Amino acid sequence: MYFDYEDSALDDHDPECCHCGEHFGARSASPAPSVYSFSSSRDGHMLRELHGRTLNALCETYMLPADDTEFQRLNRAHELWKLQLGALTMAPDLVDQILAPQEGVQRRVLDLGTGTGVWLTDMAQKYPWVEYVGVDLAPSIGLRGSKTENPLPPNIRVEIDDINLDLKHYNQSFDLVHARFIGPGITDYRRLLKEIAQVLRPGGMVMLLEPDWELYDENGDAIEPIFEDKSSGSWHARVLFESYGAFRRCGGSLEAGLMLQRWLDEVEEFEEPQVEQIFLPIGQWMTAMTEEETRRLREIGEMTRQDRLT
Ligand SMILES: C[S@@+](CC[C@H](N)C(=O)[O-])C[C@H]1O[C@@H](n2cnc3c(N)ncnc32)[C@H](O)[C@@H]1O
Repeated sequence: MYFDYEDSALDDHDPECCHCGEHFGARSASPAPSVYSFSSSRDGHMLRELHGRTLNALCETYMLPADDTEFQRLNRAHELWKLQLGALTMAPDLVDQILAPQEGVQRRVLDLGTGTGVWLTDMAQKYPWVEYVGVDLAPSIGLRGSKTENPLPPNIRVEIDDINLDLKHYNQSFDLVHARFIGPGITDYRRLLKEIAQVLRPGGMVMLLEPDWELYDENGDAIEPIFEDKSSGSWHARVLFESYGAFRRCGGSLEAGLMLQRWLDEVEEFEEPQVEQIFLPIGQWMTAMTEEETRRLREIGEMTRQDRLT
């Protein structure tokens, strides 16, 4: 399904209005099978209720909520990542080069699983000459906020779509593809990587951030979950262990964080893919060489702790 933010505010949408083209419309330029008109009788609403939370109604693989609590968490996590990376991306100099304005070329960025669109919004401020497309299963507050109260910059377009279906309609269209923490909603991450390679223009770049679902101690050793028959272990690690199992059973690519290097190496279009491990402290326990760095790490630690609690 494709929802173009430019066309309407979601809140105004009448679910009985199907195939209207006014609110939901297929991209005329795209013959892609993943793009189809919205039909209330076939598709129902875009959101569904489950155990008191709101979830997307497009893809049963992705089982994290799509409600205000989750959207606020995503926005806070975005600030956490900015602080951790010291930038909006993992390779800001490369991104500067790739998105540098060039006569006769419209630079384009695609954010897969864009969430609230908070990363795109910051990117649009930093590189205002670029066109941005965000894709997600559910329209978030940021994306569906009314144009007057919470407007997205005009160079961001948002599409509601399941990226598991196909990305062919984007082929050779983007200079940068970005995806952060979408693994739980991706049924075949290896296939997605191959499709991303096609979506990129020559010289383009993909940036992915996926978590490992284990906890590590200060020496980098994995912390074991506690189980009923054991006297030691961590309850936090147990929560992660159970979450991993639950998301895995729904068909998500939970192993993406650990497998990225191998999977990227398999795609011949990617030249020298590089994977870096980033450890986030949980809580305010780290000490660095300088007071300033200690403050930064403790702030990150506190933000990570809060994120874990949400
Ligand atoms: C954990 S959130 C991260 C959001 C955003 N990337 C960020 O870092 O702020 C994952 C997002 O990916 C979206 N997503 C997961 N699977 C998807 C799929 N198959 N197609 C489109 N979006 C998907 C979810 O709806 C959710 O908004």
